[in-house]
Amino acid sequence: MPVIPSSACAKAILFGEHAVVYGEAAIALPISNLRVKALCEPGIGLPSGTVIIQVPNLGLDTSLQAMDRGHPIALAIRGTLEALEIQAQPSFCLRVNSNFPFKAGLGGSAALAVAISRSLSAFLGHPLNTDAVNCVAFQSEVAAHGSPSGIDNSVISLEAPLYYIKGEKNIILKPKKNLSFLIADTGLAKKTGEIVSEMARKTQTDLQVRAIMAEIGAIAKSGRYAFEEGNAKELGLLMDQNHALLSQLGLSCPELDKIVNSARQAGAYGAKLTGGGRGGCALMLIEQNQQETIHKKIIEAGAKQVFVFILAGSGA
Ligand code: MEV
Repeated sequence: MPVIPSSACAKAILFGEHAVVYGEAAIALPISNLRVKALCEPGIGLPSGTVIIQVPNLGLDTSLQAMDRGHPIALAIRGTLEALEIQAQPSFCLRVNSNFPFKAGLGGSAALAVAISRSLSAFLGHPLNTDAVNCVAFQSEVAAHGSPSGIDNSVISLEAPLYYIKGEKNIILKPKKNLSFLIADTGLAKKTGEIVSEMARKTQTDLQVRAIMAEIGAIAKSGRYAFEEGNAKELGLLMDQNHALLSQLGLSCPELDKIVNSARQAGAYGAKLTGGGRGGCALMLIEQNQQETIHKKIIEAGAKQVFVFILAGSGA
């Protein structure tokens, strides 16, 4: 059986987190330099059907047999076997590593599922296509987050900037100009599933919350054209507005606000929380030559780690 390392990127939501769950538009970006890597190797000497799972980033060193059936990793493995119509489970060792933090709003759980599905299907000699991997990852996301919109698994399996509306065809976006971003991790692990459930209750009962969700969707709609034009100034303004609306929903926190404000003061075009909120990461759009200055300021403002990523423009 071929031992082929596979990987999946992280993601950042540029506009529309939470609102996307209720059918509003959103834009998500792949972060290709931040990756989860997965490797399946033959389980030589293991009892038949045994699957060893090692994920040091999550402190996991276990077996599939010992894992809860509903665990997102177990679902990614079983979902892949089902998609390949494999009844007799082979024995193998699955090792997963990541160069970015999990539970930080960067799509760690979806990247884990995508990397596992790619690695396992390649190991079994039948690499699944992007759509099939995306479906497996969505099932795993349901276990991780309750009722996800599907944006994380879609942007990560396609690894392209996406204009996303739940239930509609994915639209891949390409900016005309390079866009440079910083991601700052507050170091506060967040529980997206719980926050999404809380928002679901509020969206059902509170008309004002529903109205804010619609305003966020409208930002993503106008953001689509600014993104395609590579209009950093306009995108920055929309990011700031999106952050303000997420704050009104109670999804920011003092740690995120401090980083976002310091990035703006240091000259970022715009800054916002990204992902589930109340911890995790902030996303900043910057001019590349300001990277060092802004990086320094956000570390002073409490960021525990800072990542850089650039979306290459088409130059059109
Ligand atoms: C999480 O990255 C994005 C949320 O909108 C949840 C979802 O869309 O499933 C908070």
